[in-house]
Amino acid sequence: MTKHGATSHRGTSHVPGSPFAKTGVFGRMFPTLPSQDFDNELLVELGKKGGPMDEGNAGEEGNSPSIPAGFTFLGQFIDHDSTFDPTSSLERQNDPEAIHNFRTPLLELDSIYGSGPEASPFLYARPERGHPVAKLLIGTNDEGQPDDLPRNSEGVALIGDPRNDENLIVSQLHVAFLKFHNQVVDYIRDITPASELFEEAQRIVRWHYQWIIVHEFLPLIVGQDVVDDVLQHGRQFYRFHGEPFIPVEFAVAAYRFGHSQVRTGYRINEQVAARLFPDLSSGFEPVPTEKVVDWRNFFQITADGNPQPSRRIDSKIASVLLDLPFIPDPRPERRSLAVLNLLRGESFALPWGQRVASAMGVTALTDEELGLSDLGFPPGRAPLWFYILKEAEVQHEGTRLGAVGGRIVAEVLLGLLEGDFKSYLCHDPLWKPFLPRTDHATFTMADLLIFAGVANPVIPRVYTVQPGDTLRSIARSFYGDESRWKDIFEANKDQISDPNLIFPGQTLTIPL
Ligand code: HEM
Repeated sequence: MTKHGATSHRGTSHVPGSPFAKTGVFGRMFPTLPSQDFDNELLVELGKKGGPMDEGNAGEEGNSPSIPAGFTFLGQFIDHDSTFDPTSSLERQNDPEAIHNFRTPLLELDSIYGSGPEASPFLYARPERGHPVAKLLIGTNDEGQPDDLPRNSEGVALIGDPRNDENLIVSQLHVAFLKFHNQVVDYIRDITPASELFEEAQRIVRWHYQWIIVHEFLPLIVGQDVVDDVLQHGRQFYRFHGEPFIPVEFAVAAYRFGHSQVRTGYRINEQVAARLFPDLSSGFEPVPTEKVVDWRNFFQITADGNPQPSRRIDSKIASVLLDLPFIPDPRPERRSLAVLNLLRGESFALPWGQRVASAMGVTALTDEELGLSDLGFPPGRAPLWFYILKEAEVQHEGTRLGAVGGRIVAEVLLGLLEGDFKSYLCHDPLWKPFLPRTDHATFTMADLLIFAGVANPVIPRVYTVQPGDTLRSIARSFYGDESRWKDIFEANKDQISDPNLIFPGQTLTIPL
């Protein structure tokens, strides 16, 4: 399942610093269901460039009304944090339990931290003499600005997961996470012993990221009702004893929903708007200044912002993905991401969509709704990945995943957090984010980017007072200038009468 065809990336099978000694293998969510068993020719017909899944020149109506484009790449980034199969074969059947997952099946950013400062020292900035390592290494671009991934002399990115340099946007998102970690280090430096600084910053970064997955990403993708149901009533289909694993129904079908969200082209900043492939393919090369992403085009950074939308979650895939430039296979159909997904499903003997729907006790889509009969697919059988996309289209007009896809994605992502004793959901379920945020109701991806210093807000920020805070310490962390405590005092006079008396839990407006 490598994105790089012949140049497959082989990672480490042992991850020191991770809660588990090994990264593990894949598994099945529905181990007793029979396999779909499709003719490969049919799958190629369905997924090839110019075939029924090719979006062609579809226009505005294919845009999602609710999901900004940035979430496509956050979704891809989450995928690269949890699952990587560079070894299974498309030519034969694979047993999930014999296929190694080269990522820890946890949402703990091993794509960013690698195996930690000791085992992956090349990912980290050299500390001052006598100080322990705390910050991640950030690369400089052609103008010497710290806006690129660190790279070796060949231009190859030095990062925990090579796939995060596969297109410009996910590559820049990785830079944003590196900067986020480094800002957190500065933010807590005065109140944290030097020997604990790295681990404490890493925990804070992970927990804010996990919060965003639970409170922003999942509600957008599967619906708040499904998230609430899984959290309140528990998982029904994704079960594990001890360590979590990545089910193939998730990695090979449901979580590949994101491929349908990809747009043909993106507005990157005021200068650059271009096709994702080949124009914005990073080419695994340094990112020039003119291509630095302006995140206002991808997330709702400001109240009046206008980020471009992702495409609807439906059975149409952008043509640029159906002839991927970084796959060196001479056979055109093997460069189509849709064909790869469909063949991969076959090679893992996935159950077909309708069969999973009935195992979940939900009404399956009809053959008319699926529209596969004309291609020659057997009645009542659709490939699971295609089924899940069609279900989103039929049940929610492509605004979110449907009954089967939504349940699989929610159960697995929440299960990965519940099964990780270091995650906030497992370790401290009542925890709430405390880093500064804008006036969003909760800490969001936009807040993460603003805190990381890669996006500028123009709306007032709010901050929840923590034990030990003073107006001076808050002013120092926001402005780097203690004397600006007066600005914060002035902006909050309705709730602070004595500037020496502020209380944990108070929500303060932080003026710009
Ligand atoms: C932005 C453009 C993207 C490109 C070019 C891309 C490309 C690819 C490729 C080439 C593969 C391997 C296919 C195979 O051989 O089986 C893959 C796998 C995968 N993709 Fe994407 N992808 C993109 C975005 C996304 C998004 C947005 C998501 C989810 C939200 C996603 C989820 C996955 C998953 C779960 C896998 C399987 C990973 C594994 O286990 O190794 N991808 N993708």
